[in-house]
Amino acid sequence: MQTPTAATNDRAIRHIVEVAQFDRPWIEGLFARVARMRELPRGSDRLKGCILATLFYEPSTRTRLSFESAMHRLGGAVISTENAGEFSSAIKGETVEDTIRMIGGYADAVVIRHPEQGAAARAAAVADVPVLNGGDGPGEHPTQALLDLYTIMSEQGRIDGLKVALVGDLRFGRTARSLARLLTLTTGTEIIYVSPPAVPMGSDVQRAVAAAGVAQRSESDLSAVLPVADVVYQTRIQRERFATREEYEASRGVYVLNREAYTLMKPTATVLHPLPRVDEIATEVDDDPRSAYFRQAINGVYVRMALLDLLLGAD
Ligand code: CP
Repeated sequence: MQTPTAATNDRAIRHIVEVAQFDRPWIEGLFARVARMRELPRGSDRLKGCILATLFYEPSTRTRLSFESAMHRLGGAVISTENAGEFSSAIKGETVEDTIRMIGGYADAVVIRHPEQGAAARAAAVADVPVLNGGDGPGEHPTQALLDLYTIMSEQGRIDGLKVALVGDLRFGRTARSLARLLTLTTGTEIIYVSPPAVPMGSDVQRAVAAAGVAQRSESDLSAVLPVADVVYQTRIQRERFATREEYEASRGVYVLNREAYTLMKPTATVLHPLPRVDEIATEVDDDPRSAYFRQAINGVYVRMALLDLLLGAD
């Protein structure tokens, strides 16, 4: 049985399940590999003969397509089910564990997205091949956090000594939860949580951030945060995870980044969003050079190439 382990070197990690597996040298090694991936010529055959399975029980555009693009760019092949809850045998009652055991005979690695927190860890515990967590309910989205941190490095030129505002749905938003955990591997960072009252950052994440000695605070006034933030990480209010429409509406539209908000930000700030967005970033700021969210999504291909190359490649 394979279980996630903390990184001690490049190859120590067999599954990508949660951010707690990573350490700083592993991140630096991964980012160096991302740089090598960017230099690969079209038609690379580094993973020729390898097959990636993408098993998605929840909708996705970026995570699934960027993993599939990454595998194709490395010369590998992809098998996929994009609505596994309905179009796989899950609808007949098959468990994630049984599905993963079998897919291990069909593919060399599996990316799984599932609505239940902990599903990726359950999959990894029984898998014969590497499992990559593409998002487990309100739990974690570790590969998104890696591409987020990589984008911070490429936009800001560093990952240390930055003030990072995490804005929006911090309770259900697994990308913000994973990024806050990943920022514990940086130094001189301050995390500022800005969320509607119903969706604060979880105490589990805040405890992990405190234990790592990273500064953190909560702030309700976004206009007081924008002038000092180096990175503004905006997130969508996760409508699908609220019990009622009324609860969702109470949190929606509270914090919006528009042209007026941008006038408050540093000229050197970076605005990120894991996407998809609804209305929390106005399209009128899309062309502002500080808006890095589409560059961030494209970085996802290179970061996922590096992950597949690390898990499946020869060097
Ligand atoms: N950022 C992200 O997880 O996007 P998708 O839901 O489209 O995969």
